[in-house]
Amino acid sequence: MTGLNREWILSSRPSGSARPEDFTMRDTEVPDADSLSPGQILVRHSVFLHAPTMRNWMDAPGNNYYPSVDLGAPMLATSGGDVVASADERFPVGMRVTTIGFWQEYSVIDATVMPVRPVRDDMTLVEAMGPVGMNALTAYMGMIEVGQAKEGETVVVSGAAGSTGSVAGQIARILGCRVIGIAGSSQKCGYLTSELGFDAAIDYRTEDVRARMAELAPGGIDVFFDNVGGAILQAAVENIAKFGRIVLCGQISGYDASTPVPGPSNMMRLVYGSVRMQGFLLGDYEAKIPAARDQLWEWVASGRLRHREDVREGFENLPATFGDLSRGANEGTLLVVTDEERAFHRPTA
Ligand SMILES: NC(=O)c1ccc[n+]([C@@H]2O[C@H](COP(=O)([O-])OP(=O)(O)OC[C@H]3O[C@@H](n4cnc5c(N)ncnc54)[C@H](OP(=O)(O)O)[C@@H]3O)[C@@H](O)[C@H]2O)c1
Repeated sequence: MTGLNREWILSSRPSGSARPEDFTMRDTEVPDADSLSPGQILVRHSVFLHAPTMRNWMDAPGNNYYPSVDLGAPMLATSGGDVVASADERFPVGMRVTTIGFWQEYSVIDATVMPVRPVRDDMTLVEAMGPVGMNALTAYMGMIEVGQAKEGETVVVSGAAGSTGSVAGQIARILGCRVIGIAGSSQKCGYLTSELGFDAAIDYRTEDVRARMAELAPGGIDVFFDNVGGAILQAAVENIAKFGRIVLCGQISGYDASTPVPGPSNMMRLVYGSVRMQGFLLGDYEAKIPAARDQLWEWVASGRLRHREDVREGFENLPATFGDLSRGANEGTLLVVTDEERAFHRPTA
C-alpha cells in the first residue's frame, strides 16, 4: 500500500488548555505492509475519541501511566478503524478494531503492547467507541467493580453529563440506586434529570455543591463516582456516608493546571466513616471487558441505557475540537469522524 499519510504531531507542550497551535500537520508516507514486525498491525482510522486524559499525555514525562508524547511525535489517541495489513494472526486484514493509535490516517500499532479490541459485526465503529467504548466500560468497572453500588444506596456522580459520568449514573439507576449528578450548566442538569433518569442534579457553577449534597443526601453519600477532583471531591468527602466508597475515576479539574490542585483535606472523615477511596484504570479489568461490553450493549438495545455521541468531522479538525472538553462544550462522548462511510458501517443487523 502506498500513498500519503497525514498526521498531527505535538509541536509544543501546552501551558493550560491545549491549543490548536500546539500541533502541526505533517505529510508522511503510508507505512509499507512488508515493514511490519511480528505483533504489529496497520490500521486505517475512521474515528478518534477525544478524552480529557490526553491532556496529561501532552505533558513532559513524569506523571503519566502512558509514556508522554515526545515533541515532534504524532499525538496518541483512542481510535477505531480497520486492519489493512497484519503481522498478528489475532487481527487479520479486514477486521475492525478499536485501539490506542495516533492522530494519523494510518497507524502502525504494536498489538503486543497496546490494547486492540475487535468490534462486533452488529456495531458501527462509532457505537464501539460510544455506548460500549472506553468511557462506558470505565463507568461500568468503576460503578460495579470499584464502587460496588447496591440497590437502595445513594450515588453521586461528578462530570455527570459527560461521556463517562452519564453512563456511570445510568448504571447506578439500573442497579436500583438513587442517583444525583453534578454538571456545569442548568441545561446539562436538565438533561440528566429529564432524559437520563437521574433523581436530582447539582449545577456546580451556580450552586453550593457541599450544601446541596447535604440537602439531597441527608443520610450521606454511599458511592461517590468522581471524574473531577478538587473542590467537588472535597464536598463529597464532607458528605460521605458510613462505609461509603469514593471511586477515583479522574481528576479533570487539574488536567490543565501546571501545579497539582489542592487535594481533599479532612481525611479523618474517611477514618471515622470507615470509607474506602480507590483509584482505578479500565486496564485493571481487561479480562472482564468482553462481558461488560455485551451487558452495556444489551442495556442499549433494550432502551435502559441512553448514550449521546457528539460527533465532529474531519481529520484536519482534531486539534481544534480537543479544547471543547475543557470548555465543557461537548455533549456526550466527543468523537471525530474522518471517514463517515466506514465509521457508521454496520456489517450485520
Ligand atoms: N480511570 C480510567 O481508566 C479512565 C478512563 C476514561 C476516562 N477517565 C476519566 O473520566 C473523566 C471524564 O472523562 P470523559 O471522557 O467522560 O469526559 P467528559 O465528561 O465527556 O468531558 C469532560 C467534561 O468535564 C467537565 N469539566 C471540565 N473541566 C471541569 C472542571 N474544572 N470542573 C468540573 N468539571 C469540569 C465538563 O463538563 P461540565 O460542563 O459539566 O463542566 C466537560 O464536558 C476524566 O477525568 C477522565 O480522565 C478515566
